[in-house]
Amino acid sequence: MKKITVAANWKSNKTVTESIAWIRSFKSLAQNFPDYPDLGVIVCVPYIDLYPLKQIVQDEKIPLQLGAQDVSPFVSGAYTGQITAGMLQGLADWVIVGHSERRNYFHETDADLTQKTAKIHEAGLKSIFCISDENMSVPGEVDIVAYEPLWAIGTGKTDTPENADHVMGIIKSKTGGKPVLYGGSVKSENVAALVKMPSIDGVLVGGASLEAGSFFSLVQNSVKL
Ligand code: PGA
Repeated sequence: MKKITVAANWKSNKTVTESIAWIRSFKSLAQNFPDYPDLGVIVCVPYIDLYPLKQIVQDEKIPLQLGAQDVSPFVSGAYTGQITAGMLQGLADWVIVGHSERRNYFHETDADLTQKTAKIHEAGLKSIFCISDENMSVPGEVDIVAYEPLWAIGTGKTDTPENADHVMGIIKSKTGGKPVLYGGSVKSENVAALVKMPSIDGVLVGGASLEAGSFFSLVQNSVKL
């Protein structure tokens, strides 16, 4: 059985209070966590939610890992407003790098993303590196690649499992076989058809991760292969 990763990206959503309510709901649902040997659930939250959620996840043994959605390309120092990879140690296991919204709204370049990936790696954290087509560059230190076609993000339109699998097979061959997640309007209704494909190792989920119940049913359906 292949390893399957279901990663959530909350983007700029949820106050601390809302994030705690989400984790409490997820915990009660997780009593029915799928019996699948190699299923990993990662929830990438706003920085402010990491500390309170980490305490709860650790103390109450909730079956998920936490991630951040970005990181500074620098180490600590005079960089007002930046959160470094070192600051995330002990709070997050994962960091999303190069999401198309960051490339688009914050003008992040390949050079910035290479630097961020290196900082994540040096801090002993793992990266989920986003690209929107098979020709975009991926730094060697990346742990997981996410293929997210631009037209599919937040639109309700999903790539076909066959086309996604084809593109992701190319990405896999170019990156030495790294796991590749599909992202773009994944829901509990379409996740199984995607994850069933040989080159699709899981999904990166935006909108459908915001409500704990819908996200949990997506997690359950991801292993109904
Ligand atoms: P979506 O977002 O699931 O809302 O389309 C995916 C993403 O941007 O990672």
